[in-house]
Parts: sequence; C-alpha cells; structure tokens
Amino acid sequence: MKNLLVTGGAGFIGSNFVRYMLEHHANYTVTVLDKLTYAGNLDNLRDVENDPRYAFVQGDICDADDVRDALRAHHIDTIVNFAAETHVDRSILDADAFLRTNVFGTFVLLEAAKEFGLERYHQISTDEVYGWVDKPATENDPLIPRSPYAAAKASGDLMVNAYHVTHHVPTTITRASNTVGPYQYPEKVVPLFITNALENEPLPLYGDGKQIRDWLYVTDHCEAVDVVLHQGKIGEVYNVGGENERHNVEVVKIILDTLDKSPDLVRRVQDRSGHDRRYSLSIEKMRALGWHPRHSFEQALTETIRWYENNAWWWQKIKSGDYREYYEKQYGERLRTSQAVIV
Ligand code: NAD
Ligand code: TYD
Repeated sequence: MKNLLVTGGAGFIGSNFVRYMLEHHANYTVTVLDKLTYAGNLDNLRDVENDPRYAFVQGDICDADDVRDALRAHHIDTIVNFAAETHVDRSILDADAFLRTNVFGTFVLLEAAKEFGLERYHQISTDEVYGWVDKPATENDPLIPRSPYAAAKASGDLMVNAYHVTHHVPTTITRASNTVGPYQYPEKVVPLFITNALENEPLPLYGDGKQIRDWLYVTDHCEAVDVVLHQGKIGEVYNVGGENERHNVEVVKIILDTLDKSPDLVRRVQDRSGHDRRYSLSIEKMRALGWHPRHSFEQALTETIRWYENNAWWWQKIKSGDYREYYEKQYGERLRTSQAVIV
C-alpha cells in the first residue's frame, strides 16, 4: 500500500485524513477524487496543495470513467472512501443524492476495486447505521438505520460486505462516532453552534436537548483509519468511538462557557423527525489493535472552538453563500416559533 485514492478528500474528515497520511507516511502518494459538492472545499486542502505527493482530481464516484481514470493515472493500490452526502437534516428534506452517492457511488468504487485488483478498499461508515441504541453497539449488532442518511450508509456497508464475500475484494469498514475538529461544514451541530455563538446568532436546539451523541476528535478518527488500513483484518468492521457520550445540552454549555457567551442565545426549536436519542459504540475491537481515542470530550471541543475562533476567514465565506438559503429553509420557521430555554 502506497498510492491512496481518497474519495471525498475535500470534505471535513477526508481533508484531515489527507493531511494526516502525508504527515505520517513519507513514501505515500495521496490523490483526492472529489465532486466538490456544497460540502467540498479546496480551502480545506490549501496547506498540502504544493506537496509533490498530493494530487487533486475533480470527479464523481458515481461515474465509472472518473473513477477508472483516476485509478489508472495515479497508479492507485488503495481506495479510502469518505465521499458521501452526510447531513441527516438534508436527507430528510431530499434523500435523492444520498442514495446516489452513498449507495450507487459505493457500488461503482467496489466494481473498480474488483476490476483493478486493488490491495484494499476501505469504507468510511458511521455509528448511525446501528440506529438508536440503549447500550454500546458492537460490530455484530444488527443494522437498524432510522434516517434516510443512515439507511443509505448502511446500504453502502452491506454492498461492501457483499463484494468481499462474492468477489473477494479485500475490504475493511470503520464505523465512527460524531466527529469534530477543523474544517467541518457549519451545518453539523458543533460548528453551527460555535459560529452562531461567535456571531451572537441563536443556537437552535432540537426538542429537549437530551439526545446523546458520542464525540470523537478528527485526528483520532484519522489515526483509527490508518491503524485499520495497516493492521485491520480483511472483511472486518471496526467501531471507532471517542468514549465521550454527552447530552446535546452539555455540548451547548461548553460552547457558551468557552466563548463567554450568554445562555440567552439558546432557542428550543421543533425537533428533527425520527430523531435518534442515542448513539454509542463499543470499541473493544479497535483497542485490541492498540488504538484508543487520545482526546477527552473537553479537549476535543475546546480545540475545535479555538480553531473556529481563529479561522473566521474559512467559515464566514461559506456562511455568506447558498448556505443562507439552506439555513432559512431549515431554521427560518423553526426559529420564528422557538422558545427561550435555560441550559
Ligand atoms: P463532508 O460532508 O464534510 O464531505 C463529504 C465530501 O464528499 C465532500 O468533499 C463532497 O464534495 C464529497 N462528495 C460528495 N458526493 C460526492 C460524489 N458523488 N463524488 C465525489 N465526491 C463526493 O463529510 P464528512 O463529515 O467529512 O464525512 C466523511 C465520511 O465520514 C462520510 O462517509 C460520513 O458518512 C462519514 N462519517 C462522518 C461523521 C461525522 O461526524 N462527520 C461521523 C462518522 C462517519
Ligand atoms: P448533527 O450534527 O446533525 O449530527 P447527527 O448526524 O448525529 O444527527 O446533530 C447532532 C445532534 O445535535 C443531534 O442530536 C441533533 C442535534 N442538533 C440540534 O439540536 N440542532 C441543530 O441545529 C442540529 C444541526 C443538530
């Protein structure tokens, strides 16, 4: 393994992974294949763009020619697939692109991995495929996805397994928790709340705010993928969690306290339809490979908050474009009918 194709490498976790792999593997090349959807952003890769081991190709994972051309031109031996539509709320508004990219796109990549006899196909997946859980999910637990996003991701995972069993494609899958850190598009709750707080805009908290997520720092996520690429067993799935389960209200409190902002900014708004109350992962299998999350919840969140404070150039640009239209659709009516809430 030395020539990686990182699909979705211009997004949040993908771009951090590109940086991580270039830093940790001097003799690897990293080619990004990315469609540059609303979530893809070459600003995320600015600091590596002059590295001779890095290349960028604009293309769609649903297009077999785009994929084959990239594999051939860059002598790829390994695909790491981060490319996806990733936001649950958008999948509720319109799931079409989720099925295309997360299911059909995964199929196209698997076909190419088979055709080119790649050394490895690695799928980036999510804890959301297990659905709302009442105890930490293990890798053998049933997949009971409940949002269109999670259903599309689970379908991708099933196809990966099918290509391993049927066509002997050497696959691995990681299923990770909610990830935070630099370059996350400000639609996900943490960057949305940090940037809204920095602008003294309301923080729209869904429902009672007692939903639980497990929080993982992005470099811990990247390290886990690196470990699985090198030590993971072919055909296996690995859960990657932060062991940092918190209610959403606790996340809000830390953001407000760290930024020294008033709790009056928090607004209780209409809940998300089908909102999963809890995600949680058992990470024993990753621990057995020697990996563990290095960041506590407080460290993960504080580092993330500081990055957004110091990099307004990055997020202000995003928040002034098409984003406004999305924001109005998602939050306009909700905020007009919201209530103040004490957190
Ligand atoms: P993101 O939305 O920030 O980035 C997705 C990237 O994929 C963008 O650069 C986009 O342009 C690209 N893309 C979308 N459709 C494409 C297509 N058809 N062809 C090529 N590129 C395409 O996503 P993220 O938050 O970095 O998530 C990356 C992966 O990690 C996803 O597979 C997601 O399901 C998974 N994941 C995310 C989290 C999280 O908390 N963000 C947690 C667990 C797993
Ligand atoms: P999100 O970042 O969308 O990730 P997930 O894929 O886990 O849903 O949301 C994380 C949690 O924050 C989830 O319980 C929904 C909640 N949330 C809000 O309360 N308000 C918001 O505006 C958003 C986007 C999320």
